[in-house]
Amino acid sequence: MCGIVGILGQQDVASSLVDALKRLEYRGYDSAGIATVNAGALDRRRAEGKLRNLEEKLKLTPLHGTSGIGHTRWATHGRPVERNAHPHATDRVSVVHNGIIENFRELREELEATGVVFESDTDTEVVAQLLTQTLGHINDPVKAVEAVLPRLRGAFALGMLFAGEDDLLIGARQGAPLAIGYGEGEMYLGSDALALAPFTDQISYLDDGDWVVLTRKGASIFDAANKPVKRAKVHSAAGAYSIDKGNHRHFMMKEIHEQPEVVGRTLAHYLDMRQGEVALPDGCKVDFSQVDRLTIAACGTAFYSGLVAKYWFERFARLNVDIDIASEFRYREAPLTDKGLALFISQSGETADTLAALRYAKAEGLKVLAVVNVPTSTIARESDYQAPTLAGPEIGVASTKAFTCQMTVLACLAIAAGRQRGVLSREDEKRLIGELMAVPALMAQALKQAGAVKKLAHDLSRVKDVLFLGRGTSYPMALEGALKLKELSYIHAEGYAAGELKHGPIALIDEDMPVIVIAPRDNIYEKTISNMHEVAARGGRIILITDQQGIEEADMPDAATIAMQAMPSDFAAIVYAVPIQFLSYYAAVALGTDVDQPRNLAKSVTVE
Ligand code: G6P
Repeated sequence: MCGIVGILGQQDVASSLVDALKRLEYRGYDSAGIATVNAGALDRRRAEGKLRNLEEKLKLTPLHGTSGIGHTRWATHGRPVERNAHPHATDRVSVVHNGIIENFRELREELEATGVVFESDTDTEVVAQLLTQTLGHINDPVKAVEAVLPRLRGAFALGMLFAGEDDLLIGARQGAPLAIGYGEGEMYLGSDALALAPFTDQISYLDDGDWVVLTRKGASIFDAANKPVKRAKVHSAAGAYSIDKGNHRHFMMKEIHEQPEVVGRTLAHYLDMRQGEVALPDGCKVDFSQVDRLTIAACGTAFYSGLVAKYWFERFARLNVDIDIASEFRYREAPLTDKGLALFISQSGETADTLAALRYAKAEGLKVLAVVNVPTSTIARESDYQAPTLAGPEIGVASTKAFTCQMTVLACLAIAAGRQRGVLSREDEKRLIGELMAVPALMAQALKQAGAVKKLAHDLSRVKDVLFLGRGTSYPMALEGALKLKELSYIHAEGYAAGELKHGPIALIDEDMPVIVIAPRDNIYEKTISNMHEVAARGGRIILITDQQGIEEADMPDAATIAMQAMPSDFAAIVYAVPIQFLSYYAAVALGTDVDQPRNLAKSVTVE
């Protein structure tokens, strides 16, 4: 995790470094720091906590220098205190790092045995110390980096700055993303193109194993064997996106409200609306008729979109689906068949566990399809087929619009699979497409429930535990509802398949336990409602999410309700995501937690 940036500029770079870090804060935000070369000497400022603490510090003690590096941290080794914040430095070198140096203990012991004294608990400091020691023998920064890189194991991206070298910035990439930005007499390095968007739209992405020597004149890139290589310069569209909250208090609220638009945009990319059929775009023209098993893996909220999709692929395409959390999938030695297709879902396209699962599936000979929101990401680039979600940059750490766009893309893929496999007739497909096309408008209606949900969320913010229940595609939505509430409000919550309640969790029910029942009127609505009555009979407080007719049929006057529009049930999960997101959002606001940057989390999880 963590975000890194580097600039070789024409003027003082401190404020530009901080601007870039603001755009990288989604990658971690427990401490931050910058370093520059000023009159040949390295200097740095670091601060514990959010970036604004670093800004305050810089106001009091500004940092000058036209070349610099910056870092925003999600702690892996060492508590998030200033001493462990990056850049890590000696008098000769300053280093920022994203990822983990797996053999750092070994290297640290080796260095300590020669008398080196470490000032932090981090894995990163070994890079600074190792480079410093190497510079003692080889007084050439480029040669020193070349000598040190092969000694580092793990997944990392590095930015390195050297004392006495005002026109030199070295970067290295192994398993964590790193982009180079080209300016007019200026050069940049960053964890993603978004960080560099205010400065340049000319970007090259390093491949795994690459390292790069930047001067203000340009970039010299080398591969893992130290051979000079060229990496294509591409135009980045990241600058087209404004990274602000608009009229909203939080990015999360802005992103919740963007959903009708971005889901609509995503649908337009996958559907021939006039013909009423899926038209898979170039890059993801998968032939599902040749696939005998779909293996899905993802993490977090993306995993729940995959769980919803399992129901769709099985129902619409009669395709066998295996699904697993990416960190489990890669180690459980799942037997995979030649005719299998592996499907990975990721907003960032950089999640380490998902990427590792992808590489495992590829090594086993499977074709790989990825549903990703960042088209230039590693997962997108390493896949055989890319199915983009057109959500635009998602800044709130808790995924909202990326999640509903993932489900939208997966619905289109499942319908395409159904047609190709001869399961869906032309009429079936037209009907399903009609239902999908209604989703953005239904989401816009659901947004109007904000006020009603806010009141319920306020009550919810006073409890310690919450249960979410659902069946069918509402079961993954119950899991997602519980995850959202946990991560945003720190209230303990669990999602359960409603039918499973009686096998244990019903023991938890008492009058203090709110139970949120997600029950669109589908073929199992009545069964869900029976489960709800079992809860109520034991004193549980119910919050029922269904449509008006569903509320009436449930016949439970004491229940609190969120009334949705009536809709066909096939894709109700996408629409019902909205009140679930509101519940956790408003509970978090009532509790005063940090909605966009909840404690201990990061948006892009690039460590295993
Ligand atoms: C983190 C984020 C989640 C996200 C998950 C997977 O935990 O906080 O919102 O769902 O990572 O990330 P990905 O980028 O692979 O979708």
